[in-house]
Amino acid sequence: MKKIILSLFVAALMHTPLMSQFSRQSWDSLNKLSASDHLQMMKQLRIDSLRPGPSGNPAAANAANSDESKATTYTSLPDPLVFKNGTPVQDSDDWQKRRLEILEDFSHEVYGYIPKNLPAVKWEIVSIKDSLINSIPVLVKELLGKADNSSFPDIKVEIQLSLTIPRMIKAPIPVIMEFGFNFPPGWKMPQQNTNEPGWQEQLLSHGWGYAILVPTSFQADNGAGLREGIIGLANKGAPRKPDDWGTLRAWAWGASCAIDYFETDKNVDPKRIGIEGLSRYGKAALVAMAYEPRIAIGFIGSSGAGGAKILRRNFGEQVENLASSGEYHWFAGNFIKYAGPLTPNDLPVDAHELIALCAPRPVFISAGSASVEGTWVDAKGMFLAGLYAEPVYQILGKKGYGIKDFPAEETTLIDGDIAFRQHNGGHTTGPNWPYFIQFAEKYFSDPPK
Ligand code: GCU
Repeated sequence: MKKIILSLFVAALMHTPLMSQFSRQSWDSLNKLSASDHLQMMKQLRIDSLRPGPSGNPAAANAANSDESKATTYTSLPDPLVFKNGTPVQDSDDWQKRRLEILEDFSHEVYGYIPKNLPAVKWEIVSIKDSLINSIPVLVKELLGKADNSSFPDIKVEIQLSLTIPRMIKAPIPVIMEFGFNFPPGWKMPQQNTNEPGWQEQLLSHGWGYAILVPTSFQADNGAGLREGIIGLANKGAPRKPDDWGTLRAWAWGASCAIDYFETDKNVDPKRIGIEGLSRYGKAALVAMAYEPRIAIGFIGSSGAGGAKILRRNFGEQVENLASSGEYHWFAGNFIKYAGPLTPNDLPVDAHELIALCAPRPVFISAGSASVEGTWVDAKGMFLAGLYAEPVYQILGKKGYGIKDFPAEETTLIDGDIAFRQHNGGHTTGPNWPYFIQFAEKYFSDPPK
């Protein structure tokens, strides 16, 4: 199943503007370019070697740990409610100050700083068409966000976004934006063997809309692309510095640009915008929500390491994997240090604090079944991050899961403001959509429930 999704993913990437310049035969040279950019970043950091990460193949000799009894107990998990100088956070005013310390650490050490003076983005409506999603009449708007590249005309950046809303809407509606793919004309996802309505139809039948933002249209998903896309444009084609933003923040920037557009669209209620993503796009969705206060709710799918999973947990994917030449581009160069001279225990922050940055806004953490999806994403590590974010939600008058022990698969925890559900399927958010919508209704129904 994971293989199928990965090949769909690659197929989709091949059709995006940034990637179409690379034929299949060029994947090797793409990897070489990424490896050489990775190396130049290691040189900037004065690191000679990195610890290799474990394998994602459970049959490999160096397979990632999947045995709960061997998941190390971490001793250094930072407390989100204690200032760096040791003073405890007493109330919501204190939290606003402590939040800035945490944001600063995430920017400097993990995801990178967003450049000042980023180019302006001008949105153009490419087309507006009537269509049908199953039997629901919809209006589909195709949009392009063009970044001003007058400072460096060699790099052109255009954000692809589509917005689909029920035809009969009367008032501005909630919109859930997915980090996803825009498939080329005629290309369809293989039909799934199910009679369940798709997530798009589920949203539309609630009277809500959905948007699809194509991350790779404005920042490629590899290290080779770091001198192109919005990161390259901001750097005028030069390599990144160690605290420059990585791809996850660049993708999150695209989501903020999309919200700038939504604020101008009379069909959309800009106070009721949600974000959803799976896997690397689940990481992007959480990063986007942590940094962008206009995102009102998040549906964070199988985001794993670098997303909602506690990085200090030795189970599934590790920091060493994220710091390798295949994945380091998601992060600031500085993050690589934690697989070099430093260890995950030295990180000033961990994933529970990324969730805490979203507080008091509602977040739904989603995972698949360990037996179908595998253990690489570490569902329990994501559950724990939500649990450890709870004190921050509480200080803001909100609620966590309501339980402390990792629940059985298919237990739906949606009564608080941090939600968790591990469905019985694979690497997808699919089976959790109805539960996410139920959770979102508490906040998005009009009048609120
Ligand atoms: C790999 C990677 C994960 C990532 C996933 C995906 O498995 O190690 O961190 O989330 O790919 O995005 O598909």
